[in-house]
Amino acid sequence: LARWADLFLVAAASADTRARVAQGIANELLTSCWRGAAGEKAVAPAMNQQMWADAATQANLATLKSRGIAVFGPGSGVQACGDVGAGRLLEAEQLADLCADQFESGLLSGAHVVITAGPTREALDPVRYLSNHSSGKMGFALAEACVEAGARVTLIAGPVHLPTPARVQRVDVVSALDMLAASEAAVAVAKAGSSQPVFIATAAVADYRPAQVAAQKIKKGLKDDTLDITLVKNPDIVASIAEQADKPFVMGFAAETHAVEAYACDKLARKKLDLIACNDVSRADIGFQSDDNAMTVFWPDTQANEGVARVELAKASKAQIARELVRLLAARLTY
Ligand code: PMT
Repeated sequence: LARWADLFLVAAASADTRARVAQGIANELLTSCWRGAAGEKAVAPAMNQQMWADAATQANLATLKSRGIAVFGPGSGVQACGDVGAGRLLEAEQLADLCADQFESGLLSGAHVVITAGPTREALDPVRYLSNHSSGKMGFALAEACVEAGARVTLIAGPVHLPTPARVQRVDVVSALDMLAASEAAVAVAKAGSSQPVFIATAAVADYRPAQVAAQKIKKGLKDDTLDITLVKNPDIVASIAEQADKPFVMGFAAETHAVEAYACDKLARKKLDLIACNDVSRADIGFQSDDNAMTVFWPDTQANEGVARVELAKASKAQIARELVRLLAARLTY
């Protein structure tokens, strides 16, 4: 029990538990494991506001901090006993974020990463649209991984049902044209304010939109068995960012169902990308909507066979894949 964890967090840590670990007492399972654990350690205090203010409580806390033990919280507010003040245990999500902070790699410190995520919706009329199955999970996982790596992150999200990751600036958009405008604005800020601007395009952007959006709901004609809709091509967001004169580092994605490598390499060259991560979206266990993914990543490399280097990322959670993508990305940056 003591050996496997990278971080040992006691949550909730009572005044008594903190006093015992501060004193080095190890007479039951929790405190024995604590003393035997070699990884990082943290406590999340939870107690009555008067107990929190007590001198012994504060002295024990100072001892723990002096030994490099992280203290998460406490929060403040109404307490179980009816008192109001400091001593509330932080929420589970806050504790999870603080745990993640302990492992910040700094791989992207100084970088401003702009990420597109999710689908776009292309309106047909006030009640209908064309779209696709993207949930946004891959892009949101990348946003979290980039924050974890120390980057400033702007996340441009199509219509998805996901909470905004901590410390991420989110811009919600609907259509491909909205996403292009938001991407150009965010990339301009990234270029002006950071030594390393990066653009990552995970969004499943609709390639076409209806040429005309009906102002009112399109009605069925009594004799009509078919409906013709003319579509026009949407701008290619990632390609247009990669065309910019002082372009950021640009990473694209490729969603393929067959000839995965050939199509991915074609997109890498045609869209002038610095890196492309390709997933097979014909598989139900990865890609669209799944919590997992598997990728083949390609980038230009004059030393490699046919001028393109490649790495396979085996199936793992999108959070894990995102961390591995960040490592590959950081290794390609030159700032
Ligand atoms: O959102 P999830 O449910 O988690 O699913 C993740 C995902 C499958 C959507 C993701 O991993 C993925 O593959 N994203 C790219 C989807 C896509 O549109 O691929 P594509 O091969 O059609 O496009 C190639 C690249 O061009 C992509 O980086 C895309 O964002 C970009 N593009 C495409 C069209 C367009 N008009 N503008 C673009 O920027």
